[in-house]
Amino acid sequence: MKTSLTGIKPTHLPHLGNYLGAIRPALSLVDQYRTLYFIADYHALTSVRDSDALRGYIRDVAATWLACGLDPERTLLYRQSDVPEVFELTWVLSCLLATGQLERGHAFKDALARGESPNAGIFNYPVLMAADILLYDTDVVPIGKDQKQHLELTRDVATRLNHAYGEGTLVVPEALIGEAPLVPGTDGEKMSKSKGNGIPLFEPPKKLRKVIMGIKTSSESLEDPKVAEGSTVYELYALVAPDEASDMKRKLEAGGYGWGHAKEALFEAVEAEIGPKREAYLSIRADETQLDAVLHAGAHKAREIAHATIQRVRSAVGID
Ligand code: TRP
Repeated sequence: MKTSLTGIKPTHLPHLGNYLGAIRPALSLVDQYRTLYFIADYHALTSVRDSDALRGYIRDVAATWLACGLDPERTLLYRQSDVPEVFELTWVLSCLLATGQLERGHAFKDALARGESPNAGIFNYPVLMAADILLYDTDVVPIGKDQKQHLELTRDVATRLNHAYGEGTLVVPEALIGEAPLVPGTDGEKMSKSKGNGIPLFEPPKKLRKVIMGIKTSSESLEDPKVAEGSTVYELYALVAPDEASDMKRKLEAGGYGWGHAKEALFEAVEAEIGPKREAYLSIRADETQLDAVLHAGAHKAREIAHATIQRVRSAVGID
């Protein structure tokens, strides 16, 4: 079985966009791949400066994935920071990378373009990410388009290390850029926590309903026929309840069916999908001892793989 690995940055409480765009697609891979999913807590340090908040997000994210169906018997779930070998590999990789390549990194360049003075963590971010991937003999990395450049750098540095020190030292991974759906937020823009347009995943139903009722729509009257395709309400509905989407489309286009009706249908579909997961989340999140035990068990197994890789790399470069 090939290995699929991905990292999740614990920088916020996951929202519906994370669920539809990342969590659900990643969990659908468990039958085809050996799956490793980890919490990239050291990556979060480039932006999170509040230690209590970070501690909370790490467990929020772990509990979310477990509640959404991650089975820790089948998928290794661990914290990046529990496997310190990743930093040894980060160093070896950084000695093979040109600074120019990191200067071209999107996140770094964008920060400069905004007139900020980005920290060195942002500069080095892609090297740590490459180490995350290469440490576990990863074959495929399910990611969104925004991470493509990071994957190219990872492949590049792995190839370079193999050329310099021996083919087969590292597995050169491939990006698995699924048709990860673009999930619109309440304002129609891509759902993202920084834009404040998120639909909460595990808030109480009343709050969820309120947010969904607040989604921006065009302002036709109830009777008017409406264009479903491209509207936020319909696009979200099609992601949550694909089997019923054509039905909603027909009703909207026929007229006599208002955006309020469509929002109500959307709320019910979202609630049907995440209601049971919310229950699970609340109980998993409440038992921190058990949650931490799951993460540690995952880390223990992850470390065995990491250990073998780092031995191979050390002896390849002459530090054994
Ligand atoms: N950079 C990724 C993001 O922002 C998170 C991440 C860290 C990651 N390490 C990774 C993703 C390794 C895939 C593989 O979403």
